[in-house]
Amino acid sequence: MLKHKDVLGLREMSKEEILEILDVAQEMKKRIDNPKLRVDELKHTTVVTLFYENSTRTKTSFSLAGKYLGATVQDLGIATSSVNKGESLIDTGKTLDQMGVHVMIMRNSLTGAPHVLARNVDAHVINAGDGANEHPTQALLDLYTIRDYKKNFEGLKVAIIGDISHSRVARSNVFGLSKLGAEVTLAGPSTMLGGLGKLGIKTTSSIKEAVTDADVVMGLRIQFERQKTISFPGLEEYRQLFGVSGEILKYAKKDVLVMHPGPVNRGIEFTTDVVDGRNSVINIQVKNGLAVRMAILKLLMTGGSKA
Ligand code: CP
Repeated sequence: MLKHKDVLGLREMSKEEILEILDVAQEMKKRIDNPKLRVDELKHTTVVTLFYENSTRTKTSFSLAGKYLGATVQDLGIATSSVNKGESLIDTGKTLDQMGVHVMIMRNSLTGAPHVLARNVDAHVINAGDGANEHPTQALLDLYTIRDYKKNFEGLKVAIIGDISHSRVARSNVFGLSKLGAEVTLAGPSTMLGGLGKLGIKTTSSIKEAVTDADVVMGLRIQFERQKTISFPGLEEYRQLFGVSGEILKYAKKDVLVMHPGPVNRGIEFTTDVVDGRNSVINIQVKNGLAVRMAILKLLMTGGSKA
């Protein structure tokens, strides 16, 4: 049973809540694979997506997650909404509340925007990514994928590589993986490692060190849109020093999982042979994301009963 009205981050989510979401997602995945198993259990639920930033995976999978559960799903379409006439986030939320919306799923470039919305509306709010703060459903799908292959988290060596300081994916994963007992190493240019090291997580600027004996190697996209100044000399230097290639991956365990939240800048954070290689589960992460988002909608709306 989820303890809070909203899903805002993994920082405040307990280990038990995380594991319950993963368990329900396992049931939901069967419904993706076999449409005949789908049940309209959320047919009286209305879901609205509010994406103030671009998205392919998160927005589409939330929309399909609602539809696969029988919910009514509507996208606000920020670009054509009254947000462009200056309507505030709180007024937008209160307006949707009046229309009987049960779940608001929001992505915003501002840290804390979903928290503000959640405090001001009756609907459940799900954070689909807020600035460089958290992207809880991405981390939950990552945890689901890791558990699916590795069975448990205790002592698992996870290397997260890239633009750590601007990454909400890294932050949510650090919270989740630490709660579940994994050993996380963060690697990237020293100018991009700020913040999370303060949480007691190991950091290094040597990707060879981070990858050595790793069970999981997770790459991150360089978040150009969040950088006030570019934190490295150039893309070619970044690729040479911090890009993960097949050669670097040889230092990891043989059955290492290669993960990336997407979208991937092929040839920069990962070479193409790594993205498409036999250890890559990047496409499987996408399907697991749909299952996790179905599980979250179901748990929020049905009070946590398992599938
Ligand atoms: N991983 C992720 O959040 O992808 P989108 O930006 O496509 O939603």
